[in-house]
Amino acid sequence: MRAIIPVAGVGSRLRPHTYSVPKVLLNVAGKPIIAHILDAVIAAGCDEATIVIGYLGEMVKEYVLKHYSIKFDFVEQEERLGLGHAIFISRHTFSRSPILIILGDTIFDVDLKSMLASETTQIGVKHVDDPRRFGVAETENGRIVHLVEKPEQPRSNQAVVGLYYVTQPQVMVDCLKELIKSNARTKGEYQLTDALQLMLDRGEQMAPFPVEGWYDCGKPETLLSTNQHLLKQQPAPQSQPDVVVQGPAFISPDATVKNAVIGPFATVAEGARVENAIIRNSIISEGATVENALLEDSIVGSNAVIRGSYKRINIGDSSELEFY
Ligand code: G1P
Repeated sequence: MRAIIPVAGVGSRLRPHTYSVPKVLLNVAGKPIIAHILDAVIAAGCDEATIVIGYLGEMVKEYVLKHYSIKFDFVEQEERLGLGHAIFISRHTFSRSPILIILGDTIFDVDLKSMLASETTQIGVKHVDDPRRFGVAETENGRIVHLVEKPEQPRSNQAVVGLYYVTQPQVMVDCLKELIKSNARTKGEYQLTDALQLMLDRGEQMAPFPVEGWYDCGKPETLLSTNQHLLKQQPAPQSQPDVVVQGPAFISPDATVKNAVIGPFATVAEGARVENAIIRNSIISEGATVENALLEDSIVGSNAVIRGSYKRINIGDSSELEFY
């Protein structure tokens, strides 16, 4: 089974972090977003993956090849022409066998195995109060009958979450080709949702697949709430003589932590150094230093240095802040 994972986006809502690191390499609960996604798809039986890269794509490629050994194809999306376009340009990496498309900016807590065991195409959906910024699915008798991308007046509350199991990928490719040939764009882009609607028009069967665990990583606040959710599922690290761990928390075995209170909801990544500090609801990225500080609701980029007092901070990679 092949997973198609589009990760080309710039991640502008997560600046300054995404100036130097692609969004999918940001650490949440002890590992990059892409690692959470790959671990889940591999556990569900995927043994091949296509990663559609773009912005800072070489960094994604390097990380993935260093840490995973399934078969990978990397496809570069040079122009940001939409999700439909990202899938279309990766068409040479899959054939007639079913594929799983999983968006790279979201972590799902879902039974992927049962999705992949289905005979028909499945579209991950979740009931939301206001679905206007999502694809929206209308269903009838357990079947999807209509899909619209970001409608002004949604006719249902079923949002498309970004998880698609497509049993007839060749039909999908034909429909994407049709959209691109006729320059049929929605909101300026070639949409996967529009191609799926064309598939419905051609008589393809699709079922909604309910997804409860849908965790966005697109903004600092959602990255921190996703961090909270994932940490709750992990065992808390042991307290050491001069370190109090108030779980849920993650402390990398390669981090140096002294005279500190860690948690609740703190991630301290590999190579980070935390000394004389209290860290709550925060992510301290790889190689960062935090000294003499109380940090709360904060994201500290890799190799950033913070020395000083209590502040609320959203600091990018390689920055240096000193409070006296
Ligand atoms: C994409 C899809 C949309 C889906 C959303 C889920 O939109 O086009 O149908 O609801 O992902 O996050 P984007 O968020 O890339 O604008």
